[in-house]
Amino acid sequence: MDAVKAQKLTVGFEGGRYDILIGKGLLRELGGLLAPLRKNAPLAVVSDENVWAAHGETFASSVDSFDPVIVLPPGEGIKSLEGLSRLYGDFARRKLTRNGLVAAFGGGVIGDLAGFAAATWMRGVRIVQVPTTLLAQVDSSVGGKTAVNLPQGKNLAGAFHQPELTVIDPAVLDSLPERERRCGMAEVVKYGAIRSRSLFEALLEDGEPDLAGLIHTCCQIKAEIVARDERDFGERMLLNFGHTLGHAIEKSGGFETYRHGEAVAMGMVLAAEAGEAMGFTEPGTVNALRRALTAQGLETEYPGDLMSLFPLLSADKKSAGGGVQMVLLRRVGEAFTRHVAFEDLKRIF
Ligand code: GLY
Repeated sequence: MDAVKAQKLTVGFEGGRYDILIGKGLLRELGGLLAPLRKNAPLAVVSDENVWAAHGETFASSVDSFDPVIVLPPGEGIKSLEGLSRLYGDFARRKLTRNGLVAAFGGGVIGDLAGFAAATWMRGVRIVQVPTTLLAQVDSSVGGKTAVNLPQGKNLAGAFHQPELTVIDPAVLDSLPERERRCGMAEVVKYGAIRSRSLFEALLEDGEPDLAGLIHTCCQIKAEIVARDERDFGERMLLNFGHTLGHAIEKSGGFETYRHGEAVAMGMVLAAEAGEAMGFTEPGTVNALRRALTAQGLETEYPGDLMSLFPLLSADKKSAGGGVQMVLLRRVGEAFTRHVAFEDLKRIF
């Protein structure tokens, strides 16, 4: 078999650095990529039923695992304290020692949950991220954010825990449901909107996008931002463009009606509308965003009552002093953060 051509990016952070490898077919080479990290240490592989049904055979033919893979039910529900406790039980049964390695093989939910379990198991064991959705490949598998949801809110208990390696195989996206692909494209539009006009403009072109190229560009942007602000006190907050209103929209649908990417798409348009109305954002930006999102098959209009989002916004981690910290655009490719009063937002919406 020919060796897979992989592109390599390096993420530097306070405690070290790690590589992101991107290449079609890399999953078949995963065993060899993990070998120098594994040596004789125990390995706990965490996946979900859908991912394992679609790609488990390829994974298992590449990676020798002495213990059965931990296959969790799909969906956001498992990203909870109950899911975490279940993983701890699995790690204990596998005798995962401090030198052990966790491999998270799945989308954002698996990456976040297995990541938080790895961050806290025996005060921290190493993890490799092997993301299988577009959203996880362009965003959540890079940068070390891990968390579970609590009844009080999304991602409220978590830790920064950088992986040893992120292995991205865009070939696994061939079996990705269309809705999942669209959700990932919302995050790709976000990267263009906050940092890269050329990426943004590429998304307006007709024809099939080069997913491997888009993933590389997004990971490069994220790697640069994380290197400068790993702990999310400044520049990294820009990656939350559309997410404040997006989280409120997700919550308004009980996390069932709108997927994360769908809610973020609507949230980005609302944030751009607010920016234009307040005179911070170049006129025409809202229309450009709508075009880019529509080209990717995403809805741009929240169909509910915008006023009903405000109680949900008040409960947001970033809300304080009668308003909320928002990411706004100056223009496509340039973003900044600003505290916006709820009163102002209510007048605009
Ligand atoms: N998903 C946003 C971040 O990693 O900061």
